Amino acid sequence: MTDKKRLTTLSLKSLFAKGEKIVMVTAYDAAQAAIAEQADADIILVGDSLGMVVLGYDSTIPVTVEDMIHHGKAVRRGAPHTMVLVDMPFLSYRKSVPETLANAGRIMQETYADGIKLEGGKAVAPHVQAMVEAGIPVCGHVGLTPQNSLNFGGFRVQGKDLEAAEHIIADAWALVEAGVSMIVLECVPAKLAAILSEQLPVPIIGIGAGAACAGQVLVFHDLLDLYGRKLPKFVKSYAHLGEAATTAIRTYRDEVKAGVFPSPAFSYEVGEEELALLYAKVKGDVNP
Ligand code: KIV
Repeated sequence: MTDKKRLTTLSLKSLFAKGEKIVMVTAYDAAQAAIAEQADADIILVGDSLGMVVLGYDSTIPVTVEDMIHHGKAVRRGAPHTMVLVDMPFLSYRKSVPETLANAGRIMQETYADGIKLEGGKAVAPHVQAMVEAGIPVCGHVGLTPQNSLNFGGFRVQGKDLEAAEHIIADAWALVEAGVSMIVLECVPAKLAAILSEQLPVPIIGIGAGAACAGQVLVFHDLLDLYGRKLPKFVKSYAHLGEAATTAIRTYRDEVKAGVFPSPAFSYEVGEEELALLYAKVKGDVNP
């Protein structure tokens, strides 16, 4: 049993007021969630990056509400003492406010999440306001918003010119006015993130947004380099587990092929007497 206290939107406010950095990491199943909880992450995000790092899609667009619920439930079970946010997937919060509330309500009730995250600014502010009024804590997400990457022409740094920067600032303020508890800010120049972090009354959780943000988020598979592939400049891999896992499984494969595994140390014994009886029985059965 851990005595870890699950962060709430209230305790998040006091962390933010104290200036203590907020640590968010993604996770998609119970094992990953348990690792994040044991490592004392403040918040686990069941990101819709699920589509790309777990489900093998090349974007987040095919991810469904059912996918998010399935994985959200597993994460909640693996990390009962950590704040868990679940992403709302593509189009699940864009059609109408009632449909948004229905989808967010399902996610909250079926996963026991502590809140949801969604992408977008002004355009989704009415949906955010309705969710907050319904009692659902909401985390916004502006800057690079992967569900919109087809419009951006792929994954690239956002807010580099004045107009784009002003757009991001206006979107972030629209979310604040709608009642978000925090905002993920992805892939923008560090100076822009610093301006926003100074101005906004809610924590900015940066990813590729420099050090001035109130917190940081990284994708589990990137942080641990599980795929061994080229990662964006803003990702720091703190271990190279993909390589270590491949080596381990290859060694297992080689040992099985060579008849080395399982050795007696990995096998069960039976007493001599029982064995003699068993042989007699088997022999008797075979040759009556
Ligand atoms: O889906 C996700 O994992 C995210 C993070 C990158 C913030 O939105």
